[in-house]
Amino acid sequence: MEITTIKGFKDILPLEVGTWQRLESEARKVFAVFGFKEIKPPLLERTELFSRSIGQDTDIVSKEMYTLTDSKGRGLSLRPEATASVVRAYIQHRLYQNNPIQKLFTFGPMFRHERPQKGRFRQFYQINAEIFGDPGPRSDADIIVMAMHLFHIVGLSGLSLNINSLGCPECRPRFKKELQDYLSQRTDALCADCRRRTETNPLRVFDCKVEACNQVVTDAPSILDFICGDCRDHFGSLQGYLEDSDISFVLNHQLVRGLDYYSRTTFEIQTDRLGSQNAVAGGGRYDGLVKQLGGPDHPAIGFALGVERLVALLDEDNERDEDTPELFIAGLGDTAEKKVFGWVNELRRSGIWVEVEYASKGLKAQMKKADRLGVKRTLIVGDDELASGKGILRDMKTKVQKEVDLDDLVENLRKEIKDW
Ligand code: HAM
Repeated sequence: MEITTIKGFKDILPLEVGTWQRLESEARKVFAVFGFKEIKPPLLERTELFSRSIGQDTDIVSKEMYTLTDSKGRGLSLRPEATASVVRAYIQHRLYQNNPIQKLFTFGPMFRHERPQKGRFRQFYQINAEIFGDPGPRSDADIIVMAMHLFHIVGLSGLSLNINSLGCPECRPRFKKELQDYLSQRTDALCADCRRRTETNPLRVFDCKVEACNQVVTDAPSILDFICGDCRDHFGSLQGYLEDSDISFVLNHQLVRGLDYYSRTTFEIQTDRLGSQNAVAGGGRYDGLVKQLGGPDHPAIGFALGVERLVALLDEDNERDEDTPELFIAGLGDTAEKKVFGWVNELRRSGIWVEVEYASKGLKAQMKKADRLGVKRTLIVGDDELASGKGILRDMKTKVQKEVDLDDLVENLRKEIKDW
């Protein structure tokens, strides 16, 4: 039986990789100018890192983690997101010691056992950025401005930025109580999960995908009416900074996000082009998490974008441009083939992409291959050319041919290629 990828996992094929690389390289440039440094945490962590940070009652932790047990009976999980790992590393290596403000980014695969559908995979890649050490709204604005700038640089428009404030441990309980009362009066209309959530974690009901529950929360109280003065000022200043940066946004009081560590600002950048998987990026502030995981009381904010979703949007917008080799060298006969092997190596070492035929083939077959590869020029060298010391250089588009000196061929070709 043929072995194929498992459900929800996919190969990123050579034709797609170009967009991935462009995205990664643009993200690196953007992160550099915003002063972010890369960190590479491992893919496997202790399960409790995720249950203690993302929250036991979230879908991610309760149903979606790939968990195994090691030989000592300890639970290990493939990371479902990067923030918990970055926070662990921040605490474990005391990254705050030299510089109280740490700006870190990471790229890589995440694993969630969700039901696969368009834009949703079980292994997916995130580009993730976090700022540690600043409680104020300016770092919230910085993260959002940076995310929007990255989308702009890669050429993606038409996105909608949704923002909300989830308040702080002082004011959120008041809202939680109010929401609980509201939901308790409507339990008949809620799904079984949301009935349970009403008791344990009512804000999670906003995140439920069941239509009936969506209906119930449409008229639910708004958290923005319950947050305290400090949270209100914080959120107001953030909006001011966004307006000053010409970034438009939608206030969405139902944006709670699927992870429990958030406080104050949450945001999501959405598209209407990916069906129900409409979030291209999401993030927020998590001021209590570093302390909760055993570190100092340091605030933080961050975001992550989903690479597959972004690549899907970019590929819809742009035609894929495949790279083509500069040159094909067709060697005809034993002696020429050996010579060609040497020239090819030399040209490649000097940074020029050259292709040849591995098997011994006639001129027609080699020219066909050169055409298929889309090369610009082909150099033809057989016994006659070796004898005369002049190869034939053919322009594959115009079919015009000219002679090139085979003495010092590499230098001659390098000069030619500069003019192509
Ligand atoms: P998240 O909203 O769970 O946040 O994921 C961020 C982004 O990852 C989503 O907006 C989406 O684009 C992508 N994504 C999530 N799940 C999938 C999936 N199954 N398939 C494809 N793409 C997916 C976080 O992970 C937080 N750690 C973000 C953060 C960083 N908050 C603070 N710092």
